[in-house]
Amino acid sequence: MNPRHDPDAPIYLIGFMGAGKSTVGRMLAARLGWDFEDTDALVERAQGCSVEEIFRTVGEGRFREAEWAALCSLEGRKRLVVATGGGLFLGVAQRAFLRGQGVSFWLDAPLELVAGRVDDGSARPLWPIDDPLSRRAFFERRRAAYSLADIRIDASHGEAGELASAIEAAKHALCR
Ligand code: S3P
Repeated sequence: MNPRHDPDAPIYLIGFMGAGKSTVGRMLAARLGWDFEDTDALVERAQGCSVEEIFRTVGEGRFREAEWAALCSLEGRKRLVVATGGGLFLGVAQRAFLRGQGVSFWLDAPLELVAGRVDDGSARPLWPIDDPLSRRAFFERRRAAYSLADIRIDASHGEAGELASAIEAAKHALCR
């Protein structure tokens, strides 16, 4: 069955850091009675250290390898909600994997909103871009890739619970 029409196929949340993927994903999984996974958490568990530490000690390339391995470890699982790291969906192989396994939902939140969340001091190695123009360019380049997701969810306003409901409704509509 095409995973887009399989009611039990996994839901992948994609989008920029600070868009709310983990918060919304956890809520959605609880509501559906499904499992929840977070690719950053899977990487940290497998490597025994934080994402920030991996970037600092061995670099982004090694982080992406570990992230890909974490994603592959989820192959074939059903009734699962996955929050993905903000850079995961940029990879061609990663996008193909998601397309073959389930449905991707892009939490599309504006730069001002995610900046407010990410600037709170949480460790995001790729974020500290001080120049506003570079920041905007980085954000827009990412958006171009995210727009390849199956479904876009407007995350510019609304509580996590409302976003979870919007995803649930869109998923049901696909499977009708
Ligand atoms: C990254 C986003 C982070 C984490 C890593 C790289 C990115 O995840 O995977 O710092 O490239 O956007 P979140 O989107 O959960 O912050």
